[in-house]
Amino acid sequence: MSGKNTMRLDKLLTMLGEGTRAQVKEFVRAGRVTVDGMPVRDSGMQVDAENARVCLNGRVLEYKAVRHVMMNKPQGTLTAARDKKQRTVMDLLPPLYAAMDCMPAGRLDKDTEGLLIITSDGQLAHRIISPKKDVTKVYFARVDGTLDESDIAAFAAGLHIKDSDGEFDAKPAGLEIVSTDGSSSEVRVRVSEGKYHQVKRMLASRGAPVVYLKRESIGALNLDPALAPGQWREMTQEEVALLQQEAAE
Ligand code: URA
Repeated sequence: MSGKNTMRLDKLLTMLGEGTRAQVKEFVRAGRVTVDGMPVRDSGMQVDAENARVCLNGRVLEYKAVRHVMMNKPQGTLTAARDKKQRTVMDLLPPLYAAMDCMPAGRLDKDTEGLLIITSDGQLAHRIISPKKDVTKVYFARVDGTLDESDIAAFAAGLHIKDSDGEFDAKPAGLEIVSTDGSSSEVRVRVSEGKYHQVKRMLASRGAPVVYLKRESIGALNLDPALAPGQWREMTQEEVALLQQEAAE
């Protein structure tokens, strides 16, 4: 029977990051691959990727129908599936993830770093970014200038933004002043929507242009502090459940 996850053996091995098509064909020819315990020699054989037990050199290869990645997006990288000229977040992952149609859930600006979820579950991605779901995103920012109680109150009331990028009413948002030295400040901003350059525009509207921006959390999911910019890992089941719960509420 051929199902959604039935595919050629060489395609599966390539998707799993075990080598190029030519390399994996050679592994199969050399008898290094077994399917359900049987050595196979035909790299074009159809396998049920989800249910077959595929081994390379005796090592079981793990296929998952859905994959979720947590990345600490580095500055200088585009949040896009692909780009002809510039490096994208997908370029930081093995080809398996693009082959499984993984996509970034939401967008961080090129110069923003921090928590980015990349998932093959389009529904989950949509729910995380939908303004209707009110999923709170927390950003840490360094800004030029100082902010005070009046700015906290203005954020809480809902800012009206009018700048060269357009005009909109921001939903009430949280502003916490972490530290200030009189000429620059560190702040934390909580927003539940994701308009174009939202956090930068909100802070700039209060006379505090952003010089550094990092997303720290999405709902109850925090960026793993062990991930340096550019590093990523697959999310745990608990983390996925946390997000699913959040986005469903
Ligand atoms: N707000 C911004 O201004 N930039 C981002 O990358 C994310 C939120």
